[in-house]
Amino acid sequence: MSRPETMPPRPLAARAPTTPLRGTIRPPGDKSISHRALMLGGLAVGETTIHGLLEGEDVLRTAAAMRAMGAEIARGDDGVWRVHGRGIGGLAEPADVLDMGNAGTGSRLLMGVVATHPFNCFFTGDASLRSRPMARVTKPLEMMGARFISRDGGRLPLAVVGTASPVPIAYKLPVASAQVKSAIILAGLNTRGRTTVIEPEPTRDHTELMLRHFGVEIVVEPSPEGDRVSVTGQPEITGKTVRVPGDPSSAAFPIVAALVVPGSDVTVRDVGLNPRRTGLIDTLIEMGADIRVENRRVEAGEPVGDLRVQATTLGGIEVPAARAPSMIDEYLVLAVAAACARGKTVMRGLSELRVKESDRLAAIAQGLAACGVKAEIDGDDLTVHGCGGPPPGGATIATRLDHRIAMSYLVMGLAARAPVAIDDATPIETSFPAFESLMTGLGARLERRNR
Ligand code: S3P
Repeated sequence: MSRPETMPPRPLAARAPTTPLRGTIRPPGDKSISHRALMLGGLAVGETTIHGLLEGEDVLRTAAAMRAMGAEIARGDDGVWRVHGRGIGGLAEPADVLDMGNAGTGSRLLMGVVATHPFNCFFTGDASLRSRPMARVTKPLEMMGARFISRDGGRLPLAVVGTASPVPIAYKLPVASAQVKSAIILAGLNTRGRTTVIEPEPTRDHTELMLRHFGVEIVVEPSPEGDRVSVTGQPEITGKTVRVPGDPSSAAFPIVAALVVPGSDVTVRDVGLNPRRTGLIDTLIEMGADIRVENRRVEAGEPVGDLRVQATTLGGIEVPAARAPSMIDEYLVLAVAAACARGKTVMRGLSELRVKESDRLAAIAQGLAACGVKAEIDGDDLTVHGCGGPPPGGATIATRLDHRIAMSYLVMGLAARAPVAIDDATPIETSFPAFESLMTGLGARLERRNR
């Protein structure tokens, strides 16, 4: 298995194509849903078949971790993944450290799973993951009875002492985080009684939808503090078939590329359209984007559709803080769209961007400045002054082990007057292994650079 840290960096540059982007592509499977499918498959009794699993580095780490704890997981020649699970509470102590690579979602959700299993285990990851805060997850899991020993600041490497007698909690999320909500719900699966998470702001609900798909009763009750999401522990869950929709967070790159390369007409098929994930599409449409949703349908409880995107001159808008959870992974590429738009775009409430795979707020400001685009940060708000057409470009951007920085600035290069290079394309493997070939197939000009 490849991993960014041990692979030599692979510089890559993008330049404006001479002809518009055209064609139809399917983005890779949804990363959030892929992690959850492997975990729930591993906790179910019997066989789970997963169609369209994202075969990216992050998800492969989760597969390896679940295998290390006793789940049988194999990929068929037909591309379908089959998981034979151990039942709720049935995982076994892993013989070695779980190296989660770059996978924040994989690590935090699995910490929830193992917190209520009576064994010890150890998590580590790459330099990016080792710098990310984990206390947001370990704190509520400690309230349920697990213990953790981490590095300073709640960082990996980290040891988990799982509890044999977990207690259910009702926990109000201090940050809008689906990872924290999911870790608690997954811990609640092996906890007698009712575990409740109160979310003041709605976050992605893939864990809830997939648990329901596996037959678990999830109760969602509105309250003055926010939705109360509850699970009653120790249900019997049996294997199911899961169809993973295309990842809207990966679709975001060809979508913005099609909008900013003049004359483009691109269809992105089978995109997950869960309303808690579509903030970017709503925002781009408010900016005037020509995006039409065709063939809407529901697959495994998740809404899906095909998006036809035609190049448009965008206009700056104000993006409210309340929209952040539904597009938290998309601000980097939105900033690229905003750089090409007329007028200024103000994005509010971006504090969580500082604790992603890198400090993305800083990365946006520095990257835009390097490409000749004016932007400023004021507290948790970002203002991008659009160029009303192609930005100057002509920069080399540091990827910082962050797949989304890499892809966003390649999209910038497709729109800009001078090429934009990234110092390392290998992190793209974490979420979108076919990025280069799919984008090139649409007509994008991506060029390998010498190190
Ligand atoms: C995710 C939740 C989000 C998102 C991440 C995937 C998930 O993180 O940024 O890429 O699958 O639950 P937070 O929970 O930290 O907001």
